Amino acid sequence: MRERPVTPFRDNLLAGKTAFVAGASSGINLQIATRLAEAGAATTILSRSPDKIEAAAAGIRAKGAKCIGIAQDVRDHDGVGRAFAISVGAHGPIDIIVSGAAGNFVAPFNGLSYNGFRAVIDIDLVGTFNVMRQGFPHLRKPGACCINISAPQSIHPYPGQAHVNAAKAGVDMLTRTLAVEWGQLGVRVNSIIPGPIADTEGMSRLAPTPEAMEASARGTPLKRLGTKDEVADLALFLVSDAAAYVTGAIVPVDGGLSLLGVGRVG
Ligand code: NAP
Ligand code: COA
Repeated sequence: MRERPVTPFRDNLLAGKTAFVAGASSGINLQIATRLAEAGAATTILSRSPDKIEAAAAGIRAKGAKCIGIAQDVRDHDGVGRAFAISVGAHGPIDIIVSGAAGNFVAPFNGLSYNGFRAVIDIDLVGTFNVMRQGFPHLRKPGACCINISAPQSIHPYPGQAHVNAAKAGVDMLTRTLAVEWGQLGVRVNSIIPGPIADTEGMSRLAPTPEAMEASARGTPLKRLGTKDEVADLALFLVSDAAAYVTGAIVPVDGGLSLLGVGRVG
């Protein structure tokens, strides 16, 4: 794994802005929230577990940044609305929303129960609806920007992932639809597709052995796993003025994996 280079973005890029990141107690989304906070955004992070989200928020505050953590399930439409109201009360109108709460497990379609399929659709797809629908009234317009966190499964049909394939494809179509509907209001909406990212819960579920992890790395044209920092760098670019004409884009940060057709699951 290569060392992360010096950040290509200047400090205080997001000074005076606010960000709301859903599903950010750990992993990729926590790294994105941390990067936005380091760039100067007053940040709200949300996930289910009160202990995990408060620890994550404390970690961001320890860097000298403004951050509050809210324990909330994204499947609860009204609860997500309350979370946005708390965020606006703490930091003011919202400039950036990142929707990334997700659940995953490997199960062949014929081993997938109704509840199993619905759990992932509800977290990933309905959760993204809830975050976008409840967040929109609180966006500072024009100029606001939203990012939905998708996955390679939205492009290619991974076996054992029917629930995630369907949910993330839906997430990307929400991104495209909102980019069209909200563009005239000055709101940009994009998706990020992380490839196999090291040291994440998602990869530990999809590639539970060192051999499977190594195969995932070899399966990308760049022949390595990505880092959480590399995903966070893309998120910072997309919310910055440098991406002011980018909307409705489904952007992979995946070492070229998306070029290769159906990938490996483990
Ligand atoms: P992770 O650490 O497990 O992150 C998932 C986050 O979502 C956690 O903060 C979790 O916290 C929260 N969450 C789960 N269910 C929730 C719910 N119902 N309501 C609110 N929050 C909920 O996993 P990760 O691997 O970093 O994945 C982060 C994102 O990247 C996901 O959208 C995933 O699909 C995407 N992705 C990951 C990879 C990868 O290589 N890891 C590749 C492609 C895409 P609580 O448990 O506290 O709720
Ligand atoms: N194989 C098949 N079915 C599974 C499964 C597996 N490995 N894991 C869970 N399920 C099924 C359960 O059996 C249940 O269905 P049932 O009622 O018919 O038995 C259904 O999924 C819901 O499970 P439950 O544990 O009640 O859901 P939850 O809402 O508490 O948790 C999950 C959601 C299952 C997605 C859980 O793994 C989770 O919280 N994940 C978040 C972290 C994560 O996945 N990170 C990676 C992000 S890419």
